[in-house]
Amino acid sequence: MSDRPVLNIGLCGFGTVGQGVWKHLSANLPALESRLGAKLNLARASVRDLKKKRAVKVPARVLTSDPLAIARDPSIHIVCELMGGTTVAREVTLAALQRGAVVVSANKALICEHGAEIIAAARAHGGHFFFEASVAGGIPIIKALREGLVANRFTRIYGILNGTCNYILTQMEDQDAPYAAVLAEAKRLGYAEADESLDVDGWDTAHKASVLAWLAHGVWVRTDQMIVEGISRITPTDFRIAATLGFGIKLLAVITRDFAKNELSVRVHPTLLPEGNVVANVSGVFNAVSVTGDVVGTTFYSGRGAGQDATASAVISDIADAASLLKHGKGGHLLGEISAVTEPACRLAPPESIRSRYYLRLTVKDEPGVLARVASVMAKHKVSIASVIQTPADRPGAASLVLTTHESNERAIGATLRRLRALGAVLDDPVLLRIGDFER
Ligand code: NAP
Ligand code: HSE
Repeated sequence: MSDRPVLNIGLCGFGTVGQGVWKHLSANLPALESRLGAKLNLARASVRDLKKKRAVKVPARVLTSDPLAIARDPSIHIVCELMGGTTVAREVTLAALQRGAVVVSANKALICEHGAEIIAAARAHGGHFFFEASVAGGIPIIKALREGLVANRFTRIYGILNGTCNYILTQMEDQDAPYAAVLAEAKRLGYAEADESLDVDGWDTAHKASVLAWLAHGVWVRTDQMIVEGISRITPTDFRIAATLGFGIKLLAVITRDFAKNELSVRVHPTLLPEGNVVANVSGVFNAVSVTGDVVGTTFYSGRGAGQDATASAVISDIADAASLLKHGKGGHLLGEISAVTEPACRLAPPESIRSRYYLRLTVKDEPGVLARVASVMAKHKVSIASVIQTPADRPGAASLVLTTHESNERAIGATLRRLRALGAVLDDPVLLRIGDFER
């Protein structure tokens, strides 16, 4: 026992995730130490407000309000950045890496925005950067891509990457629950970001998609290079009509690679999935990821995508990797750590290459000729209508018109939407959903 190295851990951030890490590490310490052959010492934790009451109690001497002091402390071997945000979190991460420490991060926003700089700093200074908790909560998807699926090139990765949105959509669909109340509950349960618009407007999913795209394709795709649409305009009407058509609605990240054209597409949008699709049946805070590789075929992963316990599980798995690395000499690397992939760079797919069927809900004046005008705009842009459902809208003199299309592309549907918005008979901004034709 006594010759085991002692590894000091500092938690920068002691909120939902930080307290979860402390709680579960403390509870399972003997078993973890025995598995790792090292002693783990929870040495420091930082918070913004030292006076705030916390569910997990720690000795006062452990807490500080200065996360940079932890990042710079040479006695701390493993620095966990669990604060969120992209300013102080970036300083903390870089400061720790610049002194060659191991950094464990749950911060997908930071990685999406500054990943290239962070990885470069780790390499330049002999530090290491692990980020399993940044994508899909407790699902070890980073490890799956880096290690289990290392033999593959990835033609498609898609799935539910935001627990808050999946929780909201499930409650709306199953309970007809009002959006605002469900969002408040997701916050109370510790699922939502401090700024919840990151969740509901699709940005958090986009940050995670960026991390997965980098791992799978070696390219940092910025959120302004993606289609990013959130869930705030989805209504109970959409769920009802989607169900009539045989679909559920999920917020998906979709990362596709066409190796023949060398094109990559990364997008985030609410998607109609056929009721038999396995991802369509993943509910509540759970996430799901379908990964198709050229060697393995399609694999599927599911588990809790947010919340204290699931996220702590992922952070602790990174701490375990860090412990293993430190124990055997930090000069080494874990499989897949050195770089993402080393293929020639691919280009981002232009809008005409991104093909889909579409669901379009319009609130229109309920008067003669309106359907013909809408159909004419769609015909002009060669978007072929597959079905039409008209129901009364929630206001007098208006109707809700839902059209589904045959396969079209983002350029054509974008032009169609612009023309439809300009029609006097179209009363509200159209709601556009993609139809996900994935085989599972
Ligand atoms: P949180 O509950 O808001 O906790 C953040 C912690 O960091 C708090 O202890 C806060 O101090 C501290 N903090 C925040 N900004 C700070 C600053 N500028 N200077 C010093 N301390 C600061 O957030 P969380 O839910 O634990 O999330 C932490 C990170 O994990 C985020 O990057 C998030 O995206 C990521 N993540 C969260 C989940 C989840 O389910 N919650 C899942 C995966 C990943 P006070 O407590 O004093 O306010
Ligand atoms: N707010 C995020 C979510 C936390 O709901 O998925 C997990 O990354």
